[in-house]
Amino acid sequence: MTVQGSAPSRGAGSEGGHGRRGGTVVVLAAGQGTRMKSPRAKVLHPVCGRALLGWVLDQALSLGPQRVVLVLGDRREQIEAWLGASGERARLEAAGVELLLAEQRPQRGTGHALLACLAELRAALAADGPGSPVVVLYGDMPLLTPESLAALLRARPAGGASLLTATVADPTGYGRILRTPAGGVRAIVEHKDASADERAVHEVNVGVYAFPAELLPAHLERLEPKNAQGEYYLTDVVGSLVSDGKGVVAVPLDDPAEAAGVNTLAQLAEARAVLHGRILEAHMAAGVLIEDPASVAIDHGVEIGAGTHVLPFTVIRSGVRVGEGCEVGPFAHLRSGTVLENGAEVGNFTECKNAALGAHVKAKHLSYLGDVTIGAGSNIGAGTIVANYDGVHKHHTTIGERAFVGSGTILIAPSRVGDGALTGAGAVVKRGSDIPAGEAWVGLPARSRGTRPTPTKPTKPT
Ligand code: UD1
Ligand code: CA
Repeated sequence: MTVQGSAPSRGAGSEGGHGRRGGTVVVLAAGQGTRMKSPRAKVLHPVCGRALLGWVLDQALSLGPQRVVLVLGDRREQIEAWLGASGERARLEAAGVELLLAEQRPQRGTGHALLACLAELRAALAADGPGSPVVVLYGDMPLLTPESLAALLRARPAGGASLLTATVADPTGYGRILRTPAGGVRAIVEHKDASADERAVHEVNVGVYAFPAELLPAHLERLEPKNAQGEYYLTDVVGSLVSDGKGVVAVPLDDPAEAAGVNTLAQLAEARAVLHGRILEAHMAAGVLIEDPASVAIDHGVEIGAGTHVLPFTVIRSGVRVGEGCEVGPFAHLRSGTVLENGAEVGNFTECKNAALGAHVKAKHLSYLGDVTIGAGSNIGAGTIVANYDGVHKHHTTIGERAFVGSGTILIAPSRVGDGALTGAGAVVKRGSDIPAGEAWVGLPARSRGTRPTPTKPTKPT
């Protein structure tokens, strides 16, 4: 990250030690997102198992703020409900970050969005005192990295502002960065208001800023909607700070792609590709062998131990935990609530949902394992189905250690298979069955055939 500008770098009110730096992050999420053509609020669209806004709240948290102000408007109720249901509100609380909601209705521009939380900004200033930053993020810009945001904060001069910029091949639609002959930031002009010369500038405004908390309210109140769109432009605060002799430092992104916003479902898919790439890179760096990154899908919030091998066409959803030395796939589907202990193997066309597979359990072919606990060393034969749903309720099934579930077994939940027990091929184990340890049950419905024969050592196929 290169920083342009003459002002000295400073930390933003460092409290040191705990990644806690204070200040306020404002996330703008009031926009209508009409181009998504979706009944869902734009920022709630999922990317790798998590709403866009969740990714942005991570960006906010990376700055270690005292508080996050979320500016909502369109479909506010959906977003508020999501904050509770997704656990995001609790996550912020656990991090000691206060969450404040502000309402912007109607939406008359980005400056207007900040004006909608003026009371919160004033209260923050009163609580923090001067010197702390107000960082502005967009709820639809999920690719910005913590490194870029840290560089933004570091670059902010005392009593001044910093902003992220990107140099792009096609700047159409963006605000352009206007510089003084000496190279300092002078102002930002929106595309629709720009002259032909100004439109020739390829350095654009990303829309992410660190403002001085003590100056922002007064500069917001000076905004006037005298422009081509009749809006209150947050970008005008930049020019107004410069006019007042305050330092404004531009921080160019090394990778302009980080500034990509999501306005359409096609852009959602592009953002997903980038974030998914980062997820896979992190797993590979931690020792997970992903044979074909192009064909797997691994959500945010998945834990995978070192030495595990993920084979092609595997889908692993949020919240799944896979131990060390496991084998998953090809064509495996691990859904929420699934845990694979070390050395477990889940093979082709096996779906696990809320399934706890003990160490070295094998379920290698064509199975549905839903709401089940399977003890260490058990073998789940090809085509086994754990029928967890009676049409009204989901029920739990427990399979003990070293059990042998024969091919094509159907276990109707709730039921129980004891340690070392066996089911024969095609057995249908009725609801409520409790197969004692070591017994063999066969047939339809499955009945005891007495003690399971002691397994002889398998002969190696030649
Ligand atoms: C804004 C910048 C522009 C920059 C571009 C980068 C202004 C005036 N212009 O453009 O310089 O290049 O971002 O993407 O700031 N929002 C609200 N309330 C509003 C308007 C917008 O909450 O009244 C939110 C939107 O939900 C969105 C973000 O602010 O998340 C940006 O809004 P958008 O309309 O896309 O920004 P532009 O005006 O196009
Ligand atoms: Ca835009």
